[in-house]
Amino acid sequence: MKYTLDLSGKRVLITGAAGGIGLETAKGFLENGCDVCLADFNGEANEKAKNALSDSFPERKIIAVTGDITKSEDTDKIVAAVKDAFGGLDILVNNAGTGANVRSLNETKEGWERVIDLNLNSHFYLSQKIASEFFVPQKSGNIINMCSLSAFIGVPNAVAYSASKGAVLQMTKSLAGEWARFGIRVNCVCPGFVETPLIADNLQNERWMAYMHMRIPMKRLAKPEDIVGSVLFLSSDLSAYVTGASIIVDGGFSSGS
Ligand SMILES: NC(=O)c1ccc[n+]([C@@H]2O[C@H](COP(=O)([O-])OP(=O)(O)OC[C@H]3O[C@@H](n4cnc5c(N)ncnc54)[C@H](O)[C@@H]3O)[C@@H](O)[C@H]2O)c1
Repeated sequence: MKYTLDLSGKRVLITGAAGGIGLETAKGFLENGCDVCLADFNGEANEKAKNALSDSFPERKIIAVTGDITKSEDTDKIVAAVKDAFGGLDILVNNAGTGANVRSLNETKEGWERVIDLNLNSHFYLSQKIASEFFVPQKSGNIINMCSLSAFIGVPNAVAYSASKGAVLQMTKSLAGEWARFGIRVNCVCPGFVETPLIADNLQNERWMAYMHMRIPMKRLAKPEDIVGSVLFLSSDLSAYVTGASIIVDGGFSSGS
């Protein structure tokens, strides 16, 4: 066995790839010789991301598909585009996610369902679709779920988000146990607080930022590039015996110090 992170030629689908962690993850895969499908419901940002990445990685196949992954007809479109462009798939990164700062007593049915539908339900249905279409027939596949530190700790004013991520953690373990016999590995990466548009409100909040700098042992929030290495590790043969696992990437926040 060679102890190098060899991903060359792998075909990767990333949801929520037009910005934030998803876009940086796409760069990571492309730098390691993969072909990548960027799926995002923000068509304009997705096309822009594809054009910028194509300029940087002209030798790689990169496609952008506009679609809302909470809609079955859109995920059918994404799967068809992957099949058409790549003829198959090796790695699925379930990354698209959303959240909202809302007090639990004010949470609405619509707000709750919007978060659960994207962060949990869509990841399950897309994994199921990709497994049936590609991974089970080829007897190999790799799924990385973008989970969160909030799967492990309660986050005030983000009850739907925390609940969705706790469920993603358990979904990861359940699918890992069930699909190992098909040669499919399922793992998750659990970032702490990452500087992306998802937490734009918090990033503007000086008190919150001061608290975070005091509370995080590494004294800074994560940047999207801090998350990519764990995704690549879990996607590669370096983690061939790892499934059902979660890697917390939080600068030490959950260490309790
Ligand atoms: N930023 C953080 O602090 C943080 C911490 C822990 C976990 N995460 C997780 O990381 C993942 C990526 O988050 P981010 O911080 O990069 O967020 P982001 O808001 O920067 O990016 C999310 C992307 O998902 C896309 N998207 C949203 N809804 C979609 C839908 N229905 N269909 C298709 N695409 C959709 C958006 O257009 C956007 O490009 C999420 O699952 C999030 O929960 C983020």
